[in-house]
Amino acid sequence: MEAQNEQKFSYLLFGCWSHEAESAAACRGDRSGEIEPVKKYTKADLLWMNPLSRSFREVATRKSKRPEIVDKELDLTGYDKIFLGFPIWGWAAPSIVNAFLEKHDFSGKTIVVFATSGGTMKLDGSVKSLKPSVSETAVLKEGKVLNGEWTKEALAEWADNAC
Ligand SMILES: Cc1cc2nc3c(=O)[nH]c(=O)nc-3n(C[C@H](O)[C@H](O)[C@H](O)COP(=O)(O)O)c2cc1C
Repeated sequence: MEAQNEQKFSYLLFGCWSHEAESAAACRGDRSGEIEPVKKYTKADLLWMNPLSRSFREVATRKSKRPEIVDKELDLTGYDKIFLGFPIWGWAAPSIVNAFLEKHDFSGKTIVVFATSGGTMKLDGSVKSLKPSVSETAVLKEGKVLNGEWTKEALAEWADNAC
């Protein structure tokens, strides 16, 4: 559609997930970026069944604590839609995504969230957990959980219809 093509897409990713989801944004984004933790996540950090693991603790403390992210400039002038992807942690977005949204100004932007998961197919918990981290004029939209195999064409079609 003409109007959609005129709008610029941007995508931002937080790692620890499958290839398919990355290409979801890549096929429609003309800019990309990654939310980079100051302290990288190790395999042990991601053992989510272990109450002592870093990721488990980050889920438990997500209302009050934020992991530190690498300070990066982010100029979103001219970008109306942002595809923001992450792995679902505890039925919601990881708190590092909150940290990212709190660090930059997304006023007036539409942010389409997408994710991978271990089985959860809903994004309502993620939108709810991210809402307090953006201004009132930012719109958070549920995109899709992109588990499994996706062709480039199917991903492109999804991205076009996601806004
Ligand atoms: C701390 C933590 C919590 C998680 N919580 C959930 C969850 O609530 N629901 C779910 O389906 N998957 C959950 N997962 C699994 C991740 O979403 C999944 O491993 C991630 O999307 C990576 O997918 P991939 O291995 O296909 O790249 C969790 C993973 C971690 C590390």
